[in-house]
Amino acid sequence: MLGQDILGLGVKIANRGIATGSEQAVRRMAFTFDPERFSVGLMESRLDYWSARALLEWQVELGATDAVGDAPVDRYALEDRKPTAAPSKRPTMPEPPVKPKEVDPVAVAKVMAEKAGDLVALEQALAAFEHCDLKRGARNLVFADGQPGARVMIIGEAPGRDEDMQGKPFVGRAGQLLDKMLAATDLSREDGVYVTNVLPWRPPQNRDPLPLELAMLTPFLERHVALAKPDVLVVMGNISAQAVLGKRGITRLRGQWDRAWGIPVLPMFHPAYLLRQPQAKRQAWADLLELKAHLSVVN
Ligand code: URA
Repeated sequence: MLGQDILGLGVKIANRGIATGSEQAVRRMAFTFDPERFSVGLMESRLDYWSARALLEWQVELGATDAVGDAPVDRYALEDRKPTAAPSKRPTMPEPPVKPKEVDPVAVAKVMAEKAGDLVALEQALAAFEHCDLKRGARNLVFADGQPGARVMIIGEAPGRDEDMQGKPFVGRAGQLLDKMLAATDLSREDGVYVTNVLPWRPPQNRDPLPLELAMLTPFLERHVALAKPDVLVVMGNISAQAVLGKRGITRLRGQWDRAWGIPVLPMFHPAYLLRQPQAKRQAWADLLELKAHLSVVN
């Protein structure tokens, strides 16, 4: 670009310097000067010829080299023609993802368990309960065995491998020992005993249940007891004592009657423990006699 009408004077200012070629410029601008149009401009502006000429020379001194328009441009008057800034399109923030509502599995378990009107419905409710991860690792739901409505309800801890395969509680080695113990006291699953576990699903590597797992499965267990209506509960092992009595320390608790959910509770060693510690069978035998005595008194 050679020059610009930077002053809005209707003249072009050379880029190369103010005074350079000023005489030539005056002559060239005077040559393009149209007296008729200029006189109209004079009448409008009330500028006399000599003042106009002096102004022209002053512009040339400023570096004006060419007349680019017939009239000066008042750029302030053009203000409103300035391109208005386009309404800024602010990048819209993406909506934060809607957080799925947190579910309280314990509350869900309570509602589902309470709704179950009988043992069949309770088993179905457990099968439909999707908040316990143990379910995903297990082959089968292990609900119960024996006589629903029997006087004695035995609560074990959790299914092992055999129970998980068969979908029945206490069918492995510990279960076989349990059956022998019951037979010695004239009890059996066929007559007088109903058997279940705190956990209806086998935990991976037979690990202990997590506190949350215990908390979400206990409402089902409590409902199980309410629907089975036993006279007494026998809780076997620490996990069962924890779930039913809220206490641990089976060595201290065993053989001592307690109460939970409105029913007498007798804590005992777990048969799996007795398989590992056969010397503890003597105490287990004493506890079974205590159970029998209790049943004969409370007839
Ligand atoms: N141990 C338990 O506590 N329950 C079973 O069903 C089997 C082993």
